[in-house]
Amino acid sequence: MDKGNQVINRPILITGAGQRIGLALAQHFLAKSQPVIVSYRTRHPAVDKLEQAGATCLYADFSTNEGILEFAERVKSLTPALRAIIHNASEWKPETRDTALCDTLQAMMQIHVATPYLLNHELESLLRGHGQAGSDIIHLTDYVAERGSDKHIAYAASKAALENMTLSFALKLAPEVKVNAIAPALIMFNTDDDADYRQRSLNKSLMKIAPGEQEIVRLVEYLLASRYVTGRSHAVDGGRHLR
Ligand SMILES: NC(=O)c1ccc[n+]([C@@H]2O[C@H](COP(=O)([O-])OP(=O)(O)OC[C@H]3O[C@@H](n4cnc5c(N)ncnc54)[C@H](OP(=O)(O)O)[C@@H]3O)[C@@H](O)[C@H]2O)c1
Repeated sequence: MDKGNQVINRPILITGAGQRIGLALAQHFLAKSQPVIVSYRTRHPAVDKLEQAGATCLYADFSTNEGILEFAERVKSLTPALRAIIHNASEWKPETRDTALCDTLQAMMQIHVATPYLLNHELESLLRGHGQAGSDIIHLTDYVAERGSDKHIAYAASKAALENMTLSFALKLAPEVKVNAIAPALIMFNTDDDADYRQRSLNKSLMKIAPGEQEIVRLVEYLLASRYVTGRSHAVDGGRHLR
């Protein structure tokens, strides 16, 4: 992008990049000298390392609309343009006896629907104006958006809504901005997952592995490089739909 005589390498915005998949994406881009802006809620030690590597790290709590809108304003004050937004921030909340159902539903719709919905609108002008397929939005959804989940009903419904918004934003922003979803099944375990849970989870797919974050990084790279792929959900699920 040209701004006067200055050439600006537009940053990629990644939400919830203090750990796991978001962190791997941020590290990947930084290693390629691609600027990134990341949001974090908990200041994990990795956030300091991202900052040292050149990332702009912004605290954000998306649990209120004010928090989302304040974050959008901060981003706008830092850069006139973005190369991409990767909506990665997520919470995997089950229905439990300890939490009121309406609170679980509200939290899931807030992080997986309100956050990308408001940020895509608020930051639209930073993505536009860079030519055909010049920018991207990527929504991290979940395999359960197509399958449902008896223990994570609100989570699955909110990810299904995010899949649907992929279609609407692709229509709205074409041909300047491509909008895609990535729908992973098991990518990586949590540290406290026990051996029994791990084995049952592995058995759910045809490929029987937890492939790790780089599987997502490679697909994101493919989507960013494409000039044609938009409005689609890309499954990364080891063939789980065939079991
Ligand atoms: N990992 C998998 O195997 C898998 C499988 C299917 C789908 N996915 C999807 O892939 C994406 C990345 O997965 P992941 O496991 O790496 O994600 P994750 O670690 O569960 O979450 C990423 C980050 O989102 C942040 N976040 C959650 N709620 C927030 C809020 N209200 N405001 C601000 N930040 C908030 C969390 O901040 P804190 O650190 O403060 O909690 C966390 O660091 C997610 O969208 C997930 O649904 C992952």
